[in-house]
Amino acid sequence: MKKCLNDRVFDIISQVGESENTPVYVIGGFVRDVLLNRPSKDIDIVAVGSGIEIAEKVARKLGSNVKVSVFRNFGTAMIRYGDYEIEFVGARKESYREDSRKPIVEDGTLEDDQKRRDFTINALAFSLNKKDFGALLDPFNGENDLKDKIIRTPLEPDQTFSDDPLRMFRAIRFSSQLNFKIEDKTYQSISESKNRTKILSKERIVDEFNKILLSTKPSVGIKALENTGLLKEFFPELQNLKGVEAKDGKMHKDNFYHTVEVVDNVRKKSDDLWLIWAALLHDIAKPKTKKYIKDTGWTFHGHEFLGSKMIPSIFKRLKLPLNEKMKYVQKLVQLHLRPIVLSQDIVTDSAVRRLLFDAGDDIDDLMILCEADITSKNEYTIQKHLNNFRIVREKLVEIEEKDALRNFQPPISGELIIKTFGLDPCKTVGDIKNAIKEAILEGEIRNNYQEAYEFMIKKGEEMGLSPRKL
Ligand code: CTP
Repeated sequence: MKKCLNDRVFDIISQVGESENTPVYVIGGFVRDVLLNRPSKDIDIVAVGSGIEIAEKVARKLGSNVKVSVFRNFGTAMIRYGDYEIEFVGARKESYREDSRKPIVEDGTLEDDQKRRDFTINALAFSLNKKDFGALLDPFNGENDLKDKIIRTPLEPDQTFSDDPLRMFRAIRFSSQLNFKIEDKTYQSISESKNRTKILSKERIVDEFNKILLSTKPSVGIKALENTGLLKEFFPELQNLKGVEAKDGKMHKDNFYHTVEVVDNVRKKSDDLWLIWAALLHDIAKPKTKKYIKDTGWTFHGHEFLGSKMIPSIFKRLKLPLNEKMKYVQKLVQLHLRPIVLSQDIVTDSAVRRLLFDAGDDIDDLMILCEADITSKNEYTIQKHLNNFRIVREKLVEIEEKDALRNFQPPISGELIIKTFGLDPCKTVGDIKNAIKEAILEGEIRNNYQEAYEFMIKKGEEMGLSPRKL
């Protein structure tokens, strides 16, 4: 255990603690991650005394260029040293008066401090003190919970969660990231206290949610959010995907479980958060577009367009960025059926050209999403689709080489059309430009200046225009 504390910085913290007569410990995520063999650069130090004073003395000993940032209001201080970010705090204790739910926070022992932490696996500490340097201090059996892969609160879960309701999301996030089980009583408490999450800022919730999306199997966390009722509180649109309906013996699939499967599939191929968001939202408008048509069955006509339109308000409410990341998600949601439609039919060059034109640089991501979207239980159907997607991919490469449509720039400018036919700026210019683009996409001409120029002259003449002598 001591090996991970070999770094000079721990030695210096230990010396300062000794000379100040203040016991010092590493606590929380760093200890957990060491025991899990996960490298970590965020170090939390608890001092049984003033964390700020220890930090200032440690910084001085580390060197004149080491700065300490002090946050007096919170009683904390932070030092950046090499790759490390080291946060210092004094050990605290919380006690409750009978007449108030608001805790009184005062100085405490190490164990007092460990008690007020979120989970047993995050309440572990290493001693940095001379007498037992490197010893693991584990009053709540966190080490066992790490071995048994269990998330559990050190105190009664209701109390731990009422201290900070974000911990309910953190429990699910850690269980998803680490593939741990949330202990029954802790899980039960989340289900019962979910309405307390209303007071949390959307930023804090979404921060945890994004970590769930980036975990190896996001469905673990998303299903737990649904199951405990947290999802309904902050993301009703996703919750609304759940459920099935049957008419005339015909049933549609449960779009919630389908969606989480698609998210898992995308996550296997990519760690791009926004591609994962696109997977999460690809069918978001299905409940709103659902119709039952006799003889046809269930339809969700236009869900890709409506879904894309719903995204700005969802992003705004969840305080996600309203920038090109959002536009990218909208674009993928809007286009997510195109390769499927294409692969159900004979894959024509012109359809592939149009897809490439519309998707641009995002074509590869779109293909990942579409392949992930095949969640049929029927192996034959899966293989048929995958095979067609393979043909689409081959054609994409072939057409890309021939026509360079990925970032289409019109080979003939509006100005050249004006000059060639002696026109004023008018609708005809746009019509000719569009006709050139269509001819390229249909494969009538190739995407180069010469062929486009000849096509322009022919088109202009068809429209009664004659080229001026230049
Ligand atoms: N903590 C807590 N309650 C919270 C947040 C944090 O008790 N709502 C405690 C835990 O002991 C945690 C430590 O503060 O280990 C540091 O928190 P943070 O840096 O947010 O999380 P880590 O556990 O280090 O994990 P990660 O870096 O993955 O967020």
